[in-house]
Amino acid sequence: MKALVCEAYGPIANLAVKDIPAPVPGPEQVLIEVHAAAVNFPDALMVQGLYQVKPPLPFTPGAEIAGVVKAVGAEVPHFKPGDRVIALTSTGGFAEECLADVHRVMPLPPTMDFDTGAALVLTYATSLHALKDCGHVQPGETLVVLGAAGGVGIAAIEIGKAMGARVIAAASSDDKLELCRKVGADETVNYSTENLKDRITELTGGKGANVVYDPVGGPYTEPALRALAWRGRLLIIGFAAGEIPKIPLNLALLKERSLVGVYWGDSTRHDPGGHLANLKQLNEWFGAGKIKPVVSQRYPLAKAREAVAAIANRQVKGKVVVAPRG
Ligand SMILES: NC(=O)c1ccc[n+]([C@@H]2O[C@H](COP(=O)([O-])OP(=O)(O)OC[C@H]3O[C@@H](n4cnc5c(N)ncnc54)[C@H](OP(=O)(O)O)[C@@H]3O)[C@@H](O)[C@H]2O)c1
Repeated sequence: MKALVCEAYGPIANLAVKDIPAPVPGPEQVLIEVHAAAVNFPDALMVQGLYQVKPPLPFTPGAEIAGVVKAVGAEVPHFKPGDRVIALTSTGGFAEECLADVHRVMPLPPTMDFDTGAALVLTYATSLHALKDCGHVQPGETLVVLGAAGGVGIAAIEIGKAMGARVIAAASSDDKLELCRKVGADETVNYSTENLKDRITELTGGKGANVVYDPVGGPYTEPALRALAWRGRLLIIGFAAGEIPKIPLNLALLKERSLVGVYWGDSTRHDPGGHLANLKQLNEWFGAGKIKPVVSQRYPLAKAREAVAAIANRQVKGKVVVAPRG
């Protein structure tokens, strides 16, 4: 079968589509024909050796997929060939076929297409866990989302609205901010042309925001933290800008602000029950039309490398997917 292969950690340009042996499911695994595999920022970090998880080489990137079950292991009673499924795979997704551990496979709801199914879980479950379990966002609070037109950002806007917050979306271009408004942001800040702290302060009538959702880091974290109200919470999601900010801790002391780390992947292992409840909530919101991933582009498998490069180069709006079967 064909798959995008990373043979050595290094530049994204070194990734190549190759013929590799088709995988065979172990006893508790499911083999899935991949119809869509979403691209996430960690895929780009992983192939460069910059992510906290470093898979043994060679490997195929791609952490979340939707497709059709082709075969199941001997100890998989509740899936069968032909079932439409979503799976979290960590790696292996940018390929014609992919293995998934059975406890990370779920049915694709009948009304959901493959692109949506592939693009839903990682970003939306991260943002729900962050806003609900870590940030304790309350109805009527003001939520600022940085990198708001990206994968986890769009999810945070939609979930923030579903939780009853007023959402201020911040991103680097008017084009990206237009998308943020389309999915429900109440206000926007272009942090390439406007002063982030001043604009948030202005939009909150001088009070400051209650919660900042920060997947970007770099030069944006400190001004956003400075714009937090009394007992505001800064949710640390990631560092897409490349730089991990060093924050003067007096900014936390002065207004009893909290800096809260978010690690969704590990949280699902520490609290599997909470994770299942969150998946159920996302399914309900999807059914009610409150959340819907924005898939802005599909790439054939032959161009999967370009899809990974696009996310690394700040060019993606919402989500992009690799579609190995056209
Ligand atoms: N903690 C967790 O559990 C968890 C889970 C999932 C993802 N993450 C992390 O969340 C971050 C975002 O992931 P994502 O999949 O949403 O990525 P994404 O779609 O690429 O969004 C990231 C956003 O960051 C902004 N950005 C600023 N400087 C950038 C730069 N130099 N290069 C690229 N982007 C830059 C971009 O928005 P502007 O152009 O508008 O600034 C971009 O839209 C990543 O760091 C990822 O590792 C963390």
